[in-house]
Amino acid sequence: MTKLFENYKRADIEFVKAEGNYLFDSQGKQYLDFSSGIGVTNLGFHPQVKAALEKQVVEIWHTPNLYQNSLQEEVASRLIGDGNYRAFFCNSGAEANEAAIKLARKATGKQEIITFQNSFHGRTFGSMSATGQDKIKTGFGEGVPHFSYADYNDLDSVKDLVTTDTAAVMLELVQGESGVLPADSDFVTDLADFCQAQGILLIVDEVQTGMGRTGKLYSFQHYGITPDIFTLAKGLANGVPVGAMLGLEKWAYAFDYGSHGSTFGGNKLAMAASSAVLDVMLADGFLAEAGQKGDYLQAQLQQALENKSTVTQIRGLGMMIGIETNENLADIVEAARGAGLIVLTAGKNVIRLLPPLTLTKDEIDQGVTILAQVFN
Ligand SMILES: Cc1ncc(COP(=O)(O)O)c(C=O)c1O
Repeated sequence: MTKLFENYKRADIEFVKAEGNYLFDSQGKQYLDFSSGIGVTNLGFHPQVKAALEKQVVEIWHTPNLYQNSLQEEVASRLIGDGNYRAFFCNSGAEANEAAIKLARKATGKQEIITFQNSFHGRTFGSMSATGQDKIKTGFGEGVPHFSYADYNDLDSVKDLVTTDTAAVMLELVQGESGVLPADSDFVTDLADFCQAQGILLIVDEVQTGMGRTGKLYSFQHYGITPDIFTLAKGLANGVPVGAMLGLEKWAYAFDYGSHGSTFGGNKLAMAASSAVLDVMLADGFLAEAGQKGDYLQAQLQQALENKSTVTQIRGLGMMIGIETNENLADIVEAARGAGLIVLTAGKNVIRLLPPLTLTKDEIDQGVTILAQVFN
């Protein structure tokens, strides 16, 4: 009998080894990974990340945030680039979103945050309360107050919820967990303009869409907007737990000494991994190529699955792709796994692909061939 809480449904296999974009189970079977550990190992099991971790472990792997951390400074500068942000490091997506919610409330002195139906922002009380899905909150009693939920891609429904106490609007630009639903371009730019005009902060949750997943470092770069705050986690350290909240310099006064913190946040090991991730991702042409691979994968899937009556839509942005289907999702995941391909689900009727950005064209073709067989 397990000694673990049974809050996860675990498949009956264990991965014990990984190399590049492949996983190996305890029986020695090889799998091509189209999941990146739920959008985490965005570079696969990359030798540069491994080397950086090995080097850091030998030197020092943790120091508290009571001391200088030049790795945090270096990672923050590269995450920020030409932007005018400051960074706060933590350990997970939920924790990054908690920091975003706290910064928005403190910076504005207001309390209400508008998020969206079917959104997903995490499992802690604040991030769960921000999440627009009842099934995530059921049984846990009263959540954090002052969240309301607009309809995605509908600016009027946001306007209807605005009050004099509205601090921020928070959203994913591709809703990941609920079914890989990209936001409409006009909606996003109109929302950003509206927020700016009203003095409402715009928070973009880039936990799943960030770190190259959509073919740009951040998905908001597709929309030409500048969020007041954005959050990162998953791909940021390619598998070492880390999260980050980045807020515009003008809001930095609100996170003054003693206002917020995290024991492990941005420790040396996580930052060494993040630094290596950025070395790879910010190299000339890497992200553009990742975007092209995403387009190629989507096109190949369209072609391979166009005649399948059970596939209703293929959509996504970059290497974040959803195959909407009326097949039983668990059956598809299992059949793909049987054929040596790891895929994810999202929402009620979507097979979700979050492959490593390092996939080769051959690996993309292999995965598509398996999916075409599975959907037969
Ligand atoms: C958009 C988004 N935000 C937040 C989270 C929560 O991240 P974590 O599980 O690291 O707390 C997730 C996780 O799937 C996510 O997809």
